[in-house]
Amino acid sequence: MANQANHLRDFVRQNQRNGRVLAVTSGKGGVGKTNTSVNLAIALAQRGARVTVLDADLGLANVEVLLGLNSLYNLQHVVTGEKKMLDILVTGPGGVQVVPGSSGIARFADLGPTARQNVLAGLEELQQYSDFIIIDTMAGIGQNVTAFAAAADEVLLVTTPEPSSIVDAYAMIKTIFQQRDDALFRLIINQALNEQQGQAVAQKIAHVAQQFLGRSLAYMGHVPRDPHVQQAVMQSQPFSLRFPNAPATKCVQDIAARLLQHRTHADDTKPSFFRRIAENLGLASNA
Ligand SMILES: Nc1ncnc2c1ncn2[C@@H]1O[C@H](COP(=O)(O)OP(=O)(O)OP(=O)(O)O)[C@@H](O)[C@H]1O
Ligand SMILES: [Mg+2]
Repeated sequence: MANQANHLRDFVRQNQRNGRVLAVTSGKGGVGKTNTSVNLAIALAQRGARVTVLDADLGLANVEVLLGLNSLYNLQHVVTGEKKMLDILVTGPGGVQVVPGSSGIARFADLGPTARQNVLAGLEELQQYSDFIIIDTMAGIGQNVTAFAAAADEVLLVTTPEPSSIVDAYAMIKTIFQQRDDALFRLIINQALNEQQGQAVAQKIAHVAQQFLGRSLAYMGHVPRDPHVQQAVMQSQPFSLRFPNAPATKCVQDIAARLLQHRTHADDTKPSFFRRIAENLGLASNA
């Protein structure tokens, strides 16, 4: 009996995880958030992590399209209470779990109390059963995006070297810091010409953030502009699986390794992600 109890305790300990919640965000649209989310998730899964990708783009089913999935259920069914979060999970390529997004939810803030409860309970379930939850957010500084980003343990900010993308990224940093003083930013420069350009752009952004906001940002690395990405997108496949030896794949794998080296400050005293997102969306009294 004692053995069985120990066994059960071990089982619960092993399966009850308090996953790191990473929000992948950008200011400008089309910079590579969804590709980064999905391929980073795969790279982390390849290193043994249990990874869930949550498609929080409420306008378009970004992640599903990119992975060539066509699921029966999505976030909308969790909102209505027809399904539990774990029931709508779909196993995607590379062993990554996917929470399909829904274009049916315009704004989380518009949901009624029961619907909010359903979503928040679902997010908590997810966090218990994943090592990483990667949230692919939609572009822009709307409330849906910043609420997710500010609630996450870490914000993975994706920008290209283009000035318009950098300016919008900076606006995003500012907005999120206004919402959460201790936000933890990690920077990824996508579609860089080379490593040097990635580093130069990252330095520039980090310098501005330090100078005007007094905040430091951790640079995670660059992903080169690589024709394999577009080719894989056209085939509805993640580039890292379709082209395992492509330059972009190598860089995403390096970023995954760096992420695993960086511990999140939230590891020790973590108010759970779902609690923070409730607060950010002004739902705490209903949650
Ligand atoms: N490293 C890269 N090299 C070459 N092309 C890329 C790279 N990253 C992204 N792209 C191109 O940019 C397109 C948009 O990428 P993605 O869908 O990941 O961006 P997004 O930020 O999620 O867009 P949205 O804001 O619309 O959600 C891809 O379909 C691909 O053609
Ligand atoms: Mg996208």
